[in-house]
Amino acid sequence: MRPSLPPGRRVVVRAYGETPLEAVEQHLAIEPMEAPDPATLGPRDVVVAVRSASVGWVDLLMTSGQYQHMPAPPYCPGLEWAGEVVWAGGAVEPAEVAVGDAVLGDGLLAGPRSLGDYRAYGGFASYAVAPVEAVRRIPAGLSFDQACNLLGSYETAYHCLIARGRLAAGETVLVHGASGATGLAAVHVAKLTGARVIATGRSSAKLAVVAAQGADHVLDIGDGAGGVRAFRDEVKALTGGRGVDVVYDGVGGDVSLESLRCVAFGARVLVVGWASTPFVAQGKGQRGAPNANRLPTNLIMMKGLDVLGCPTVISTVVDPSIRAPRLAQVWSWAEAGRVVPYVGGSFAFDDVKEAMRAKWRGEVVGGCALRPDPLAPSIAE
Ligand SMILES: NC(=O)c1ccc[n+]([C@@H]2O[C@H](COP(=O)([O-])OP(=O)(O)OC[C@H]3O[C@@H](n4cnc5c(N)ncnc54)[C@H](OP(=O)(O)O)[C@@H]3O)[C@@H](O)[C@H]2O)c1
Repeated sequence: MRPSLPPGRRVVVRAYGETPLEAVEQHLAIEPMEAPDPATLGPRDVVVAVRSASVGWVDLLMTSGQYQHMPAPPYCPGLEWAGEVVWAGGAVEPAEVAVGDAVLGDGLLAGPRSLGDYRAYGGFASYAVAPVEAVRRIPAGLSFDQACNLLGSYETAYHCLIARGRLAAGETVLVHGASGATGLAAVHVAKLTGARVIATGRSSAKLAVVAAQGADHVLDIGDGAGGVRAFRDEVKALTGGRGVDVVYDGVGGDVSLESLRCVAFGARVLVVGWASTPFVAQGKGQRGAPNANRLPTNLIMMKGLDVLGCPTVISTVVDPSIRAPRLAQVWSWAEAGRVVPYVGGSFAFDDVKEAMRAKWRGEVVGGCALRPDPLAPSIAE
């Protein structure tokens, strides 16, 4: 018999900001949190003492209502988390999960990116509540920090490169934003596919990590002032003048335009995101696209390009059947130790604002983790 769960703390976003940084400074706070009361929970629910929550780009964008999915403030951020099960409802089979298990949460089925009743429980908190279908035992060998940075990034990499991009062994892929969470996952997934990876970024220090993580070539395309310079000649040289077969573009803006100058005829250009022009919606949850990126149709036509939008979550909502093979592949890679998320920064709970600032400023390579108060060890006694 376990003791009753002690109170904890959680982060709350009280109102949307004009920008993510403004939201972090003005509208985000840590507040006390009562432990979830099992009497109010369902027979298939579980309570998890969160040990690590991923601090992702989407978590930041959500705080200003500039992400397409908008939980109404006040809300608790933290799309993805990992921790220890501290309570399970009476209809949860031990073969599913049991108290004491280390689990990760599926951010599409619970937490602020989900659609139903579990949206209230974000990972930036001592406790998360989820239906048992939304938790999975962490593959052996993964830490809590790594586990909470698994599904979102690797499902994105799989959806973009494989489901949409049909990346094949022997092809060459140009991965932009390769030091980021999804970019580094894309480097890993592309290498597992047998492709050759040319990875770009604006920091040679971060690119050294990307190279150590498996990229065949790294190109520092920074212009020294926060922007990017031309890189077509280097990419052409690395591909014998032919250009790349696939572009994984999570950066947008000038990077997209320059990429179209160094692709092979018939290449696939994967529109993953636009980290360089994040404000395609206005702040405080207002819609509108003042900075929407534009691509030249003449190059798309004459090079016979396939420009493919790659929304990982929306595609799944439209066609739920596409998720099972994606999850199965990512999971089997993780269980076999073939993908291990690289986590470049871990922050104490009290440093949540610094964690979010660092993530927004691009100071963290790969995944980023926030560690709620260590309640779990005392509960587990
Ligand atoms: N398609 C989907 O379903 C999906 C899923 C998740 C995320 N996304 C999107 O994908 C993008 C990347 O997400 P993420 O989680 O990987 O973000 P991230 O971890 O913040 O990484 C983004 C990377 O982009 C580069 N970058 C940022 N600002 C830049 C600028 N002004 N110019 C050039 N490069 C810049 C940075 O690399 P350097 O500093 O090394 O240059 C950074 O490491 C975001 O737009 C996100 O919304 C899409």
